[in-house]
Amino acid sequence: MSKPKVLVTRPLFPAARAILDKHFEVEYWTQADRIPRGELLRRVADKDALVCLLTEKADEELLAAAPKLRVVATVSVGYDNIDVPACTRRKVVATHTPGVLDETTADFAWTLLMAIARRLVEGDAWMRSGAWPGWDLDQLLGGDVWGKTLGIIGFGRIGRGVARRAQGFQMRILYNDQARAALEAEKELHAEFADRDRLLRESDFVTLHVPLLPETRHLISKDAFEKMKRTAYLINTSRGPVVDEAALAEALDQKKIAGAALDVYEHEPKVHPALVARKDVILAPHIASATVETRTKMAVMAATNAAALFEGRRPPNALNADALGL
Ligand code: DGY
Repeated sequence: MSKPKVLVTRPLFPAARAILDKHFEVEYWTQADRIPRGELLRRVADKDALVCLLTEKADEELLAAAPKLRVVATVSVGYDNIDVPACTRRKVVATHTPGVLDETTADFAWTLLMAIARRLVEGDAWMRSGAWPGWDLDQLLGGDVWGKTLGIIGFGRIGRGVARRAQGFQMRILYNDQARAALEAEKELHAEFADRDRLLRESDFVTLHVPLLPETRHLISKDAFEKMKRTAYLINTSRGPVVDEAALAEALDQKKIAGAALDVYEHEPKVHPALVARKDVILAPHIASATVETRTKMAVMAATNAAALFEGRRPPNALNADALGL
């Protein structure tokens, strides 16, 4: 019997390839550049499954170009690249990779937080320039982290991982989400629910952990920067469009906040030009989950999700399983 066909937009990792190769006739996109849109539409046309990255959009146009498609498996927890309602309408299962990247991403939010507070990137550049004159009392003064107030917007698995790590720094933790967390979670993490305005007003560090939704687009914009402390730092490892980059650049210019550390951007791979030259901004290339262990787990999870459907199982991380009656 012939195997179902899958298009995979990256060669992934051996452990994930083993799963795909067993279940599918596989076509990998192996070129160094991202797959061009036209090529993606052409290659997916005869496929039963698509394993893609967050850089590929699975929208109406793609679904229309792939009439045989039964599953779209993105190798990411965020799934703003997939039009899930359109998938449901066309009876295509959409899956993502939750859970496996929470701790790694929380680690990285902390990496950024520490690095921006203690001006690590500026210090590194200074050392490499050969211009450092030696120790002095007032060089590269940053802001303390320990004992400060951490404001976490989005108190899901990653936000809570960030809170857990803050315990060792004796921080006061404020959090905001659509709903309050259970009392046990608040107690365990020493976290206090605060409305967004209060969180912005009182936090020394504001870290973002919300998905990109219509209501979270530009959640942090001019209005938010007006409320934040002039000494506060913004950390974003969620999705770029959650922050209005032009408003951020303006806020930094006007010294409304002390700095920002970003892993994600409004128009990836572009960065707002006004942010590029600033020393009070750290720019990371969307690497919060980028460890060998975690990226391997994500790829294996996506491959498993895609294969499950063709084994007659409900894909473990289906976003529209109920809507499709799986
Ligand atoms: C995701 O998975 O959504 C991250 O942005 C990349 O790991």
